[in-house]
Amino acid sequence: MFKNTAAVILAAGKGTRMRSERPKVLHEVLGQPLVHFPVQLAAELDVGVTVIVVGHAKEAVEQSVRRIAPNARFAHQVQQRGTGDAVNAAREATEGFDRLLILSGDVPGLSALTVERLHQACSDRNAPLAVLTFTPDDPTGYGRVLTDSSGAALRIVEHKDASPEERAVRVVNSGVYLVNRALVYDALSRVGTDNSQGEVYLTDIVALAHEAGTPGVAVNCEDHFEVAGVNDRSQLAQITARLQHDHNHALMTSGVTMHDPSRTWVELGVQLGQDVTLHTGVALRGNTTVGAGVTISAGVDATDARIEAGATILPYCVLNQAHVGPNAKVGPFAHLRPGTVLGPETKIGNFVETKKTTLGKGSKASHLTYLGDCEVGEAANIGAGTITCNYDGVGKHKTVISDRAFIGSNTELVAPVVVGEESVVGAGTTVTRDVPAGALAVSRADQKNIENWAYKHGPVVRKTRTQKTQGE
Ligand code: UD1
Ligand code: CA
Repeated sequence: MFKNTAAVILAAGKGTRMRSERPKVLHEVLGQPLVHFPVQLAAELDVGVTVIVVGHAKEAVEQSVRRIAPNARFAHQVQQRGTGDAVNAAREATEGFDRLLILSGDVPGLSALTVERLHQACSDRNAPLAVLTFTPDDPTGYGRVLTDSSGAALRIVEHKDASPEERAVRVVNSGVYLVNRALVYDALSRVGTDNSQGEVYLTDIVALAHEAGTPGVAVNCEDHFEVAGVNDRSQLAQITARLQHDHNHALMTSGVTMHDPSRTWVELGVQLGQDVTLHTGVALRGNTTVGAGVTISAGVDATDARIEAGATILPYCVLNQAHVGPNAKVGPFAHLRPGTVLGPETKIGNFVETKKTTLGKGSKASHLTYLGDCEVGEAANIGAGTITCNYDGVGKHKTVISDRAFIGSNTELVAPVVVGEESVVGAGTTVTRDVPAGALAVSRADQKNIENWAYKHGPVVRKTRTQKTQGE
């Protein structure tokens, strides 16, 4: 339906009202830059080519778009002289196509169905142009779309240029058009800048089409979210809330349980399996994937993590580029940093931090531990308060803990060091040399007991003496 159509996405503006160093169209909604939404819509519609008109911070915008649309073309608008000027910039890049689908880089909610309605309206009326309109409660600031009784579009007048009677019209221009390409460039060659903003208005092509005896058609959009643009951060939050609502409800329909969808953040790049349960305040970001039957408890924040089927993540864990194996149990309050790979049925308990660490099947580190640059075999037990000393102030070094090794509590492992299979490290040991398989390693000063010392000098004795002195 859209093979002969070029999508033109206007994204050259600065977005002053965002008050940001970052270009507006790169601000994110559910983890996805604004400009990706129209780019994806164009792909969904299977248009012949997608052209993004860039200007402000053009390199950053181009780089971001290329990540998802390597075949997209870019047209450079050197100075932002109005929406008509922006479409003019896309003239070469759209050569050879019959129609243009004109979209805004800052309108993320538009659906393919609505664009198909524009297409249908053009066919039904044999019109060269369809403009998407809506009817907000407060039309201030928008261009008013003036139509005749048959719905033919006569012209669009910008708020700033409108008379009081025109301002009373509540039907406004959304900035989305499906239009015959020849008409656009023919009309734009005749559009001037004689208006209150001194800009080349794209909207002027509507009057020119009407004057030529081939009027366009106005198509109304009921759901204002579809045409809502982001101009400031408050609007960004409103649009985000709606998308979050829709996305979470789609996930629930597909078999995910959410205790409170309004307080569950699942970014658009995240994949969830069946029977995943998400408690309140969970945030899943980036390319996180979660397997079937996983439970993620309150306050867990995971970025680019992979959590396999049947795993349980207890409250308030932070995961970043970590891989949690099937049926593993993590948390509460664990911190899994990049390069963490937990095997099947492993356990990471409270206040445990891991980085560049692999744990073989069934191994456990249950309490208060730091494992960095560490390779742990299967069925090893790592006691409370174990610390891998992996950094000597210059370089990082590796610790190997072999299968079925038992590391006693409060152990330091000074890397590089290897703890052999089935060996035991006594509590409180500082391991500085490799431990052979099956050996016991202990490093501690021998304990000395002094008989009756406490009866003579201990705190109980001292306290009684003080009381006696005070009583005298
Ligand atoms: C435009 C319409 C108005 C409509 C409104 C809907 C015109 C003249 N007016 O007004 O009828 O109701 O959108 O939101 O078209 N852009 C460029 N280069 C430019 C100017 C704009 O790329 O030189 C881009 C902006 O980045 C933005 C889009 O075009 O993505 C719309 O521009 P904006 O300045 O917001 O247009 P409005 O004045 O709001
Ligand atoms: Ca605008």
